[in-house]
Amino acid sequence: METILLKVNPWRPSKRKIQTAAGIIRRGGLVAFPTETVYGLGANALDVEAVEKIFEVKGRPLDNPVIVHIAKKEELKKLAKEVPEKAKILAERFWPGPLTLILKKSEVLPGVTTAGLDTVAIRMPDNKTALGLISASGVPIAAPSANISGRPSPTAAEHVMRDLNGKIDAVIDGGAANIGLESTVLDLTASVPTILRPGGVTFEELKGVLGKVEKQSILLGKPRSPGMKYRHYAPKAELILVGDAEKIPEIVSKLSGKKIGILATRENAQMYSGIVEVVGSRKNLREVARNLFNALRKLDEEGVDIIISENFEEKGIGLAIMNRLKKAASKINILLC
Ligand code: TXA
Ligand code: MG
Repeated sequence: METILLKVNPWRPSKRKIQTAAGIIRRGGLVAFPTETVYGLGANALDVEAVEKIFEVKGRPLDNPVIVHIAKKEELKKLAKEVPEKAKILAERFWPGPLTLILKKSEVLPGVTTAGLDTVAIRMPDNKTALGLISASGVPIAAPSANISGRPSPTAAEHVMRDLNGKIDAVIDGGAANIGLESTVLDLTASVPTILRPGGVTFEELKGVLGKVEKQSILLGKPRSPGMKYRHYAPKAELILVGDAEKIPEIVSKLSGKKIGILATRENAQMYSGIVEVVGSRKNLREVARNLFNALRKLDEEGVDIIISENFEEKGIGLAIMNRLKKAASKINILLC
């Protein structure tokens, strides 16, 4: 299959190109598209065969449900069995934006989209191209991140092409993703709203609106979000997280014989030698979030055996950054020295 690349201006996406992509979605095809978080691999959420194809091309386990994307808040009530007051308040405050709400599902969604669960994950992305595509398709769009399962999520169209070229109908290139990490997944079916995956909307922001919010530890036993049990965002190399950046040069010297890449902040980069990827400034963790997956992909492409990363305070977007780094580590190699 030839994958067509539709390049659009992110601020004024071409209506003609959006229509082309929407036609593919309506006919049951797969289109990767930009969102503010990461690129999604979209299909008509109501079309069983189309959604099945998503799982096939990604190599995604069938028990891991996908997020359904909508373009208008009103569509929430068609997809959810009931819309609790908290969901209305959160949608009003954070949509369009990087927040996914887990609600009881309605009858319209096929089992494959929600992996047989009685709940559904819904979000309204903050991206003109994504919203245009959903509206023009006239259907809700099921979309996981547009990467091969186990690879870091794509934050640019080139990443999608590298993973899925020849396997999907089209990729809309709308430039680099602004946030760079996936949405926050919030379970509203729990007695206390629970963050199943930290992301673009922070714990502190949710607490500010809801009062009480819980975080699900990534080290807890049975995961409530099916995706959490799989090793995600995984670079091919082993990843070691180091608490005290000043110890990194010494750790590197002890690992002689291995090809090492370092994920560094701008403030500390001059301490290291060798393959160093600067992800951004410690003073601007939004920048670190935006560059993280691209940096992991680049180090993978350098063919490093081990990635050594600085760690970050688990506050604000730092919680999501650390969640992705911990999950990328093959073992929990966190040296809190
Ligand atoms: O930012 C994002 O959320 C991106 C963009 C494309 O929107 N999408 C994304 O999708 O990251 P994906 O499939 O890579 O991650 C969805 C996560 C998975 O961990 C999945 O298990 C969880 O959401 N999820 C989906 N439906 C769920 C449900 N009904 N209950 C609990 N967790 C659910
Ligand atoms: Mg994913």
